Amino acid sequence: MQALANDVEIRGVYKRIGRNVILDGIDLEVKQGELLTLLGPSGCGKTSTLNVIAGFLDIDQGDVFIKGQRVTDVPAYKRGLGMVFQTYSLFPHMTVYENLDFGLSLRKVAKDEKKRRIQKALELVKMTGLENRYPRELSGGQRQRVAIARALVVQPTLLLLDEPLSNLDAKLRHELRAEIKRLQKEVGVTTIFVTHDQEEALSMSDRIVVMNKGKIEQVGTPTEIYAHPRTEFVFQFIGKSNQLEGTVKSRDSRMICVELAEGGQVLVEAENVMGSDRSCAVGDAVKLYIRPEKLTIQAAENEAPHYNAHAATIVQLNYLGSAWEIEVSMLGKRMQVLRPSIESGWTIGTEVMVGWNPSDMMIVKK
Ligand SMILES: Nc1ncnc2c1ncn2[C@@H]1O[C@H](COP(=O)(O)OP(=O)(O)O)[C@@H](O)[C@H]1O
Ligand SMILES: [Mg+2]
Repeated sequence: MQALANDVEIRGVYKRIGRNVILDGIDLEVKQGELLTLLGPSGCGKTSTLNVIAGFLDIDQGDVFIKGQRVTDVPAYKRGLGMVFQTYSLFPHMTVYENLDFGLSLRKVAKDEKKRRIQKALELVKMTGLENRYPRELSGGQRQRVAIARALVVQPTLLLLDEPLSNLDAKLRHELRAEIKRLQKEVGVTTIFVTHDQEEALSMSDRIVVMNKGKIEQVGTPTEIYAHPRTEFVFQFIGKSNQLEGTVKSRDSRMICVELAEGGQVLVEAENVMGSDRSCAVGDAVKLYIRPEKLTIQAAENEAPHYNAHAATIVQLNYLGSAWEIEVSMLGKRMQVLRPSIESGWTIGTEVMVGWNPSDMMIVKK
């Protein structure tokens, strides 16, 4: 017996189509009741992974387990899963009620029980009262709500959602994000959610799986993925960043000192080395990354912070409503700084001091 039950286990899955390796050794565990997100750029293998779990895609090597049962050779319809896709998958000639009834009738659920479950599912997605509408009489968001209700009404072992919010406008997308998160916890159904949108993944998930070219780059909670990316790919994919280059001048177990190509030195915490072997020795050429919101900015005449403080000049100021995006020229480069406010009087040409904490900078060998 395992301490923590896994509802899904994927072991060494490999899939090739023609000359393309689509899944290149996928190992993955989905815990009972969690909302796990597959995140990555278009074409990285998210849908293929979901299809392997659902049983829509045969694999060349490896095994798939659902609730401890090996299902590698079990057909899709026997896996008991609920799926929602990016494009509306409702039956257009059936009402909302009939769409939900369909799967229950196939499973020969008794009439009263069907009615009860359909009402409950519609309540869950806030669609009560719209039972008699046809899909064409619903908005995009409402259709996706019905699609989710239809997936849930059969009480699936797993809920699989493939970019269900991609076709919706920004406001609706935000709203439905929160809704899906809420109802997933309410129902408690183990869920795998696919998206290419990092913000969506960060805001919704218990854990995120970052994929790239048919491989898994990192698995972790949203904060682990954002604050402690293990690879350069994860760091760059998950948010905005500034980049510097240099050579390692000295290091101990806690800190790495880098001599920048443009002159000047910076300190980086030794824990923040990324890359597969996480090696970083004196003399190595390295790339350094820091997120815009991790840079502090202050008037040049103020006392400088202890580490990593550099003179900079404002070259661009963009007001974003909730924040200021300040572009500075510094260390011979342009860097983006994101702050909630700026000092009055700052303008293009103002001399400032930009600094950051060594724990916020990531480093990787070139
Ligand atoms: N039926 C297919 N035939 C050939 N190539 C495919 C097929 N399905 C997917 N692919 C390729 O497999 C890769 C992964 O696709 P997919 O899993 O759909 O990616 P994602 O969902 O992350 O965008 C892509 O390069 C895609 O072109
Ligand atoms: Mg896809």
